[in-house]
Amino acid sequence: MARILVVDDEKSIRLTLCEFLKNAGYEAEAAGDAVIARSMLEEKPYDVVVTDIIMPRVSGIDLMAAIRKISPSIQVIIMTGEPTVDTAVKAVQSGANDYLTKPISKDILLKTVKNAVKIKKLSDEKELLEQESKYYQKQLEALVDQRTRSLQKTMRGIIYLLTSVVETRDPYTAGHQRRVGNLSAAIAERMNMPRETVDLVRTAGYIHDIGKITVPAEILSKPGRLSPLEMEMIKIHAHRGYEMISKANLPDQIGTAIRQHHERADGSGYPQGLTDDSICPEAKILIVADVVEAMMSHRPYRPALGIDAALAEIGGKSGVLYNKDVVDACTGLFRDGYSIEDEEKQIHLPL
Ligand SMILES: [Fe+2]
Repeated sequence: MARILVVDDEKSIRLTLCEFLKNAGYEAEAAGDAVIARSMLEEKPYDVVVTDIIMPRVSGIDLMAAIRKISPSIQVIIMTGEPTVDTAVKAVQSGANDYLTKPISKDILLKTVKNAVKIKKLSDEKELLEQESKYYQKQLEALVDQRTRSLQKTMRGIIYLLTSVVETRDPYTAGHQRRVGNLSAAIAERMNMPRETVDLVRTAGYIHDIGKITVPAEILSKPGRLSPLEMEMIKIHAHRGYEMISKANLPDQIGTAIRQHHERADGSGYPQGLTDDSICPEAKILIVADVVEAMMSHRPYRPALGIDAALAEIGGKSGVLYNKDVVDACTGLFRDGYSIEDEEKQIHLPL
């Protein structure tokens, strides 16, 4: 049953209107002024308020403002003594949903209230649907968030596993991939690349030599010079890594960067002989980080050469073998005191 509140300072009017409404099946109550009406509205819910405009203490217009704060969906019908268009416009502008002109006939009152009750019901149903929709939306977001975290965790596990597989077979490059990944991420950050690219280059770095698991271990750890055939067998790791990662459902840029990490800007690299404009941004970084880290570390066939030699190498061939912007960023990093980090960092891959 719809609840109606009638507000009028004239007792006879409010009693008559309440009687009309009760006889029509509504639950009707009356208030002698706006202050009483307001406290009644705060105590329990009403669907429609029928209020006079001019009343002592607080006017019907001020009561309307209070009603809107309590509940925007309560329908307010203003009662006015002046039957002009101007009065109607003013009533609606002040927030009324409808208006009645005095003297009020029973039929017009019931028709107007019936209409207001219908609108209130529709408005309540709409609000309920919106609340339900918001609830389901939140539930869905929480589920997606949970699944994303779980996928990220699985991916990190896969990356970690792949890193350790390579390093178990090739102890001389133990830590090399991790350091290359960390240096690549630091270069990308220095170049103001987006967070996503920083994570992608770090990940690509962590597994860039994964293709080496297809190369015989004795060749990987052989001290001294390699024969041309052995060199060819090692070179194939870039393409093999790309093939393996392509099947792992990781972001495409990771596989591409792995395939291109031995390319050179002048086209003298392998496996495709790409030039600078065809090498992807992630690989451009990986190429420089790989060379710098390799020169700084000990190898079976030579001792560590140190950071000065590494920076001299990339600086001397900047724009020829290595991308100039990447070389500048890398050199700037070390000039500012960067030292290569060995530990594995958390990664957040785009899914
Ligand atoms: Fe490599």
